[in-house]
Amino acid sequence: MQVESLRELLIAEIRDIYDAEEQIVDELPGIIEKVRSPQLKSALQMHLEETRGQILRLEQVFEKLGEDVEGEKCAGMKGILKEGADAIDDTDEGDVRDAVIIASCQKVEHYEIASYGCVRTWASQLGLNDVAQLLQVTLEEEGNADKKLSQIAESAVNIQAKKVA
Ligand SMILES: [Fe+2]
Repeated sequence: MQVESLRELLIAEIRDIYDAEEQIVDELPGIIEKVRSPQLKSALQMHLEETRGQILRLEQVFEKLGEDVEGEKCAGMKGILKEGADAIDDTDEGDVRDAVIIASCQKVEHYEIASYGCVRTWASQLGLNDVAQLLQVTLEEEGNADKKLSQIAESAVNIQAKKVA
């Protein structure tokens, strides 16, 4: 589809991130099963629940925009998840694998932070303040999830991984 206006661009990017969130909900349970650190496991479980809420929030966004609830294949997230799955497969259960999982999940978060930041700004520029507000809430959740992963990485998980090396 040829994108000719900021509104069309906003809708296209919302469809992309909606599909990305659905991919995450599909893949995250399998990743969580492979985690050893209880702290990491519970952080990811919490974020899985949060992600389900983010999908509902995007459905509200579609509704406010008067658009059908429909994703558009997000090739970026597919690639990030595939690369993460391959890297996880290259490790055995333990601290090193947990470090790989943190890295993969942070790559996911950073993609989402970039996307939500853009759509939030475009919604504001279009005067769609209620849409911008919904997207801002998710943007903050993604930011917090990313920070939490950094904290876990800086504590036990990576220190122990270093010892194994
Ligand atoms: Fe998300």
